Amino acid sequence: MRVAMIGTGYVGLVSGACFSEFGLDVICVDKDENKIASIKKGVMPIYEPGLDDLVENNIKAGRLGFTTDLASAVKDAKAVFIAVGTPTRRGGGHADLSYVYAAAEEIADAMDGYTVVVTKSTVPVGTGDEVERIIRKRRPDADFDVVSNPEFLREGSAISDFTHPDRVVIGTESARAKEVMRELYRPLSLIEAPIVFTSRVSSELIKYAANTFLATKITFINEIADLCEKVDADVHDVARGIGLDGRIGKKFLHAGPGYGGSCFPKDTMALVHTARDVGAPLSIVEAVVEVNAKRKASMVDRVTKACGGSLKGKTIAVLGLTFKPNTDDMRDSPSLDIVPAIIAAGATVRAFDPEGMDEAKEMMQGVEWCDETYCTMENADALVIITEWNAFRGLDLERVKKIMNAPVMVDLRNIYEPTEMYEAGFDYYCIGRARIEPKNK
Ligand SMILES: NC(=O)c1ccc[n+]([C@@H]2O[C@H](COP(=O)([O-])OP(=O)(O)OC[C@H]3O[C@@H](n4cnc5c(N)ncnc54)[C@H](O)[C@@H]3O)[C@@H](O)[C@H]2O)c1
Repeated sequence: MRVAMIGTGYVGLVSGACFSEFGLDVICVDKDENKIASIKKGVMPIYEPGLDDLVENNIKAGRLGFTTDLASAVKDAKAVFIAVGTPTRRGGGHADLSYVYAAAEEIADAMDGYTVVVTKSTVPVGTGDEVERIIRKRRPDADFDVVSNPEFLREGSAISDFTHPDRVVIGTESARAKEVMRELYRPLSLIEAPIVFTSRVSSELIKYAANTFLATKITFINEIADLCEKVDADVHDVARGIGLDGRIGKKFLHAGPGYGGSCFPKDTMALVHTARDVGAPLSIVEAVVEVNAKRKASMVDRVTKACGGSLKGKTIAVLGLTFKPNTDDMRDSPSLDIVPAIIAAGATVRAFDPEGMDEAKEMMQGVEWCDETYCTMENADALVIITEWNAFRGLDLERVKKIMNAPVMVDLRNIYEPTEMYEAGFDYYCIGRARIEPKNK
């Protein structure tokens, strides 16, 4: 079966490459000529472990191609995926659906024969109806179905998430479309991945409900962490103690600086607006959005406290800028709140991230960019860990102490143990765990 993937970003590129690995003929389309040219040369536009090999192998096998010509890709395709961006609309929290609708118009003009148009982008309830209306209006003669098939992959483990999903959600009531979708995902039946068939609106809502639930779980443990600090409890133990309860589950219970990334912030906002628009406001999600924003903004206070109450004239080393490890994605990363706030408080920031530097340089000003981990700490008065890259988990603490002005660490991801840091002679600040005053303080 031939598949066209419209939009070759994180989701389109990974999904397209994985479908070709399943044995399907896939053409990925993007408007961005540079992106397509660079992929054709073997240079991936994003950092995602394993992606370059997957793309290269499937191009060689003749199953995966890239183009800027949407019409030629769509013409012979049985399934056309819309995987374009749905960012937050300017001046409000609604999702901006202009890319989705523009893609729908272009698809309408190009399709030939029965076509299943699949929305993989995260879109609010009712978007599928609008896509169908747009296509029908432009092509009253067309034979097509519009299906919702939200994507749940996580950046950093996108390939295994796509090929070993917890579930695949498919929203359609058309028997013909169901058959096409079944065929697309047939390889997953070998690993018995559950496929949830549902209505289009339920499928659209499942994606938002999943993301807002996870954002709520993170925000919950973040507030519990603050409470732990007040009562000398340990958030690691609390998270483990509740996470072992099968009804709660262990994942997404890591306290930190607040959620960020390309999905949770915009999806929580979009669902809040959808719910308000239809008169069924989601008070819990509204509180989550507010608490998370305050949390990100308050992280600078922890750095200030670690520096004795003022950041004026201090040098702060920052390790990790992306919203999570194993990605170069900086969208809505907590670092975008924390770093500018440290600079605004009068400090110099020296920063390093293994993959996110190019994007970070475009989004932050006034930072001294460093090429590697240890040089970042030269003469620093405090070291702040914002992203838990593996490379930062096993720092040579003796070396760190020698390089820095003072052995002060603010670990916003709890990657070190308070007792270990105490023994190593650090003034160590983390999240939601009892602080041990250093011997020499
Ligand atoms: N990034 C994630 O981890 C993730 C996970 C699940 C779902 N999603 C959802 O998937 C969607 C895509 O997200 P992303 O992170 O891949 O976005 P992205 O911004 O990385 O990529 C979107 C791509 O679409 C291209 N594009 C836009 N209009 C086009 C058109 N008419 N024709 C061809 N190309 C076009 C853009 O040039 C861009 O390269 C969003 O709705 C997002 O919420 C993202």
